[in-house]
Amino acid sequence: MSSGSGDVARTHLISQVGPDLEGQEVGLAGWVYRYRDLGSVIFIVLRDATGIIQAVVRSEEVDPNSWEAAKKADVEASVKLAGVVRLDPRAPGGVEIRVTRASLVGESPDFPIKKDTGVEFRLDKRHLDIRSRRMWAALKIRAEFIAGLREWFDSNGFVSVEAPTFVSAAVEGGATLFELNYFGRKAYLTQSSQFYLEAAIFTFEKVYTIQPSFRAEKSRTRRHLTEFWHAEAEMAWHDLDAMMDVAEALVDHAVQRVYENRKEELEILGRKFEPPQRPYPRISYDEAIDIAQSKGVQIEWGDDMSTEAERAVSLEFDRPVFVYRYPKQAKAFYHAPDPARPEVVLCADLLAPEGIGEIIGGGQRIHSYDELVARIREEGLRVEDYEWYLDLRRYGSVPHAGFGLGVERTVRWIAGIPHIRDAVAFPRTPTRLTP
Ligand code: 4AD
Ligand code: MG
Repeated sequence: MSSGSGDVARTHLISQVGPDLEGQEVGLAGWVYRYRDLGSVIFIVLRDATGIIQAVVRSEEVDPNSWEAAKKADVEASVKLAGVVRLDPRAPGGVEIRVTRASLVGESPDFPIKKDTGVEFRLDKRHLDIRSRRMWAALKIRAEFIAGLREWFDSNGFVSVEAPTFVSAAVEGGATLFELNYFGRKAYLTQSSQFYLEAAIFTFEKVYTIQPSFRAEKSRTRRHLTEFWHAEAEMAWHDLDAMMDVAEALVDHAVQRVYENRKEELEILGRKFEPPQRPYPRISYDEAIDIAQSKGVQIEWGDDMSTEAERAVSLEFDRPVFVYRYPKQAKAFYHAPDPARPEVVLCADLLAPEGIGEIIGGGQRIHSYDELVARIREEGLRVEDYEWYLDLRRYGSVPHAGFGLGVERTVRWIAGIPHIRDAVAFPRTPTRLTP
């Protein structure tokens, strides 16, 4: 399939080519991002992993093989171009390449995604659409954010532990469980690695994992996926306040890292983002309900915070806000009750600003065996399903707390991405299982 001047060697990445190289010859390799054939001159915007650059091929300036290669290239063909760097204030990056040799590596007849292609078709062709500048930017921001999470955990005494994906019982309630047949037995896809992290605190005290969780969420919203990446932490000897301190420091660090290293990507997405100031405010569920009601949201004390309620509360603050001490009935069975007020539990959600809402859920866990058994029974769950989890309260139990952060929800906020599916390369939603 290859044609043209086969000897074009890659000497530079596109991001390395700037005005300082004026007059020099460079060899580039990449994909055709834009293609315009004007007869005797062809304009190519070339893309590689690092950026884009404009290249001009003129029939009188290249050999016949190179000219043929440039003619046969089209959008998303892979090519190698050698050429001389010229200053051009109108071109992206301030330079363009006057091509001297070209070779076509892989042709691309009629790339299916065009400028005006609709959203659903793009999603069907996601394996191709991740080549777009928009997805390039979003996914680099995501990668940077995940690296920031890991960096913070690894430099603050946390040990990374991985948990299984096949599990035998619910963590977060039956309504969102994916069930499967495990050699004739019922099994589920994990909703959260929390219980496994709880087991691991007795070995390492502070642990974390970043891995997928699964929710059979029927709700088709801009903030729900059926498979999402979950950054979870669990800490021995921590209470609710200490947990919020950890979550705040973690989010702040990862957000700062994105802000410092991904300015170009944020700009491509048209996102004007400033890392929020610390500290993040902490308000009670009671206060949050008051705010939501005062904004006209239909919600009663005792209800879980709805999307609308979270939105109303988050719009009141210019930075993330913790909402703590929810009613017991709104949260999963493992949350520790507040000794001073047993109708509420020692939990906290972190709501991202700009109406985004919950990005973290967590809190202090029940660490007494008897209390935990009582709560499992009260919720109508089967004690035998939680035998191993109860062992953690039988042998050397300690007060502990932890939380889970939704990677895509947080990236959606940082990058200003309208729909959560664009915060992950290959999204899974109730209607989407390919590519
Ligand atoms: O609030 P959740 O359900 O809490 C837990 O799973 C705890 N066991 C975590 C823990 O304490 N270790 O989920 C935690 C976070 C949410 O705040 C949200 O960011 C994200 O996970 N999340 C989802 N993200 C995308 N799509 C979904 N369907 C999500 N469900 C939860
Ligand atoms: Mg939650």
